[in-house]
Amino acid sequence: MDEKVTVAVLAGTTRVQRESIKAAHYVADFARKLPNVEVIFVDPVDFNFPGDGNDLEGKDPRYTEIVAKADAFFIVTPEYNHSFPGSLKRMLDSELQLYNHKPVAFAGASDGNWGGVRAVEALLNAIRETGLVALSWDVYFPHVDKMFNTDGTIKEEHRERYDRNLGKLFAELLLFARLFKTIR
Ligand SMILES: Cc1cc2nc3c(=O)[nH]c(=O)nc-3n(C[C@H](O)[C@H](O)[C@H](O)COP(=O)(O)O)c2cc1C
Repeated sequence: MDEKVTVAVLAGTTRVQRESIKAAHYVADFARKLPNVEVIFVDPVDFNFPGDGNDLEGKDPRYTEIVAKADAFFIVTPEYNHSFPGSLKRMLDSELQLYNHKPVAFAGASDGNWGGVRAVEALLNAIRETGLVALSWDVYFPHVDKMFNTDGTIKEEHRERYDRNLGKLFAELLLFARLFKTIR
């Protein structure tokens, strides 16, 4: 039997009317159905990161605990001015060593055609420095404001394709997570 893996799914924004949160919940719900996977949903709204940096004053101990426990990360980021939101950066910046030798997958989201591809590309630069190890491909949610039903489920016309792509991406993420567990 495969070893249990804990995946932290990070939502990327605190914006009140955020649409990308639906994509983040869809990713987390998908992962919860996978065998031997524990999902921790991380919503930046629920945390408090005073100031900047990763010294003791800049941390939220609940986030520290999650990062310590997680074997893998899945970040769902919207695109803000061709980059990723400041709240996501602030949350990521609050830790460092605990990310080391853990894999991370990405999904981008936007209300336009490109699905947040520039946000993920911008995020990659910062991720390299954290010690997280990025997978080589991503999932994108263009027109994210139209992709989900009001109850948060993905619309039927998108379900099969997104389930298939997420399945492949999670297979890769879990493979790396189990591999890296052996060297940590
Ligand atoms: C401050 C801000 C900047 C944005 N910049 C971009 C952008 O550069 N490119 C883009 O495709 N969408 C941009 N958007 C629109 C987002 O794609 C849209 O809000 C989408 O629903 C995902 O973000 P959300 O989770 O905040 O809703 C921007 C939205 C905000 C609030």
